[in-house]
Amino acid sequence: MKRSTRLTAALLSLIVVLSLTACAAREGGEAPAAPTLLARAPAGISAPAGGFSDVDAGAWYADAVDYVQSHGLMDGVGEGRFDPDGSLTRAMLVTVLWRQAGEPVVNYLMRFSDVPGGRWYTEAVRWAASEQLVGGYGDGRFGTDDPVTQEHLGLIFQRYTEQPVTDGIPGYDGSAQPATRAQAAAAVRNYAQLPQQPAGRGRTLVAYFSATNNTRNVAGHIADILGAEVYEIVPETPYTSADLDYNDGHSRANREQNDPAARPAIDGSVEDMARYDVVFLGWPIWHGQAPKIVSTFLEAYDLSGKTIVPFCTSGSSPMGSSAASLHPLVPGAEWLDGQRFSGSVSRDTVEEWVNGLDLPISEGTGTLEGEDEMLKIAVNGTVLTATLADNSSAQALKELLAEGPIDIQMQDYGHFEKVGPLGRSLPTNNEPIDTQAGDLILYQGDRFVIYYDANSWDLTRLGRIDDVTAQELREILGSADVSVTLSMG
Ligand SMILES: Cc1cc2nc3c(=O)[nH]c(=O)nc-3n(C[C@H](O)[C@H](O)[C@H](O)COP(=O)(O)O)c2cc1C
Repeated sequence: MKRSTRLTAALLSLIVVLSLTACAAREGGEAPAAPTLLARAPAGISAPAGGFSDVDAGAWYADAVDYVQSHGLMDGVGEGRFDPDGSLTRAMLVTVLWRQAGEPVVNYLMRFSDVPGGRWYTEAVRWAASEQLVGGYGDGRFGTDDPVTQEHLGLIFQRYTEQPVTDGIPGYDGSAQPATRAQAAAAVRNYAQLPQQPAGRGRTLVAYFSATNNTRNVAGHIADILGAEVYEIVPETPYTSADLDYNDGHSRANREQNDPAARPAIDGSVEDMARYDVVFLGWPIWHGQAPKIVSTFLEAYDLSGKTIVPFCTSGSSPMGSSAASLHPLVPGAEWLDGQRFSGSVSRDTVEEWVNGLDLPISEGTGTLEGEDEMLKIAVNGTVLTATLADNSSAQALKELLAEGPIDIQMQDYGHFEKVGPLGRSLPTNNEPIDTQAGDLILYQGDRFVIYYDANSWDLTRLGRIDDVTAQELREILGSADVSVTLSMG
């Protein structure tokens, strides 16, 4: 399911999260330690409006509480209270998100010691783990009843929205302190107010310079299509008509274009350029090149690691070398091919171009403190997760998988392992190892091995499959040769 779709309903589900206690009781599961929040509103029926005795109308979160209640997203904890300072558990939060996603049933081997089968949150945690929205603690626990921390709240929403919905929430500092229900309500409300970005795209800025509004028109289309933020490069000294007279060899524009050192000053700046992964950059063609103020803009920021998508408008000239001439000003950025438009180009034409772009997929994640980045092994319809070893071999495998998933044809060998070529040599860290079921080994530098039984040899440890018994692993791998796919989550 696409994240944008999930998100749309996510808010609705967030409220449902809060209703977990009621669900737990109904389904015979254990009740979460934290007070339950919401009675689950039937589809299409809003929770009844009404004041909470512990939500002062002047409180910073009053609007957010009103919002989540009136939209059926969160309700009170009973006795007319909302409990704004109370907390949510990790199980509650992922259940909210899971329900928002339509309660998908996933075939994913998830064996957290504190997530028994058949509980109200079991399938939600399984789904969230399969989607890498959450990870375990590395000791086999999910942290079912642990309160959602502020860091966790921010990161989960970031994974969904790729936008900082927790920024500016009073008391929110991204710390390991529990998030409050009031903060969760505010995050939900903030999310609901965001323009939707297409799934999988990074945070996008559309920056442009436009002297006579043609390029502004294109920038507006792009921002509208992507739900991106816009920044206009405004000259400190505005250009007059006389300044723009390209027939006058001494006009300001012509003088600037003829002066390699010209850097017209800009009024204002981008507030937090670090937030953006992708920067669309637009300009009018001036004598075949970008106006020098675009150079001023590029030299003002560290754009390394970002993807820059150039576009321009002109009377008739193509983009030509105008983008390439700017590349030396932005070390470390990746430039996509640019596109020239007429000043009156339609939204549809711009959209066709945008949709054809190979924009980077945003990770939008990061690893929570205390959570491990997981190796995923997809085999015979099951996705196993594994914890990587702490050595240069595992690090190299991780880097290899950062380039994309790897398919490996594995042969059964010796009735204790499956072994197949990685397609690349990794550094070895051989040591005498008595293998156990679930051990992941690098053999001879370029073979990936999954052990399902014991062996003793000088081997390089790559990691270990989490929470699977030898019997289960044998059943999953089967007795024959097998095809597996490795990826990082
Ligand atoms: C100083 C100057 C030089 C220009 N040079 C060219 C050019 O070389 N080729 C071209 O097709 N149009 C040229 N134009 C026209 C602009 O590129 C075109 O009108 C553009 O769409 C203006 O965009 P804006 O409204 O965003 O400023 C020039 C305009 C100016 C003011």
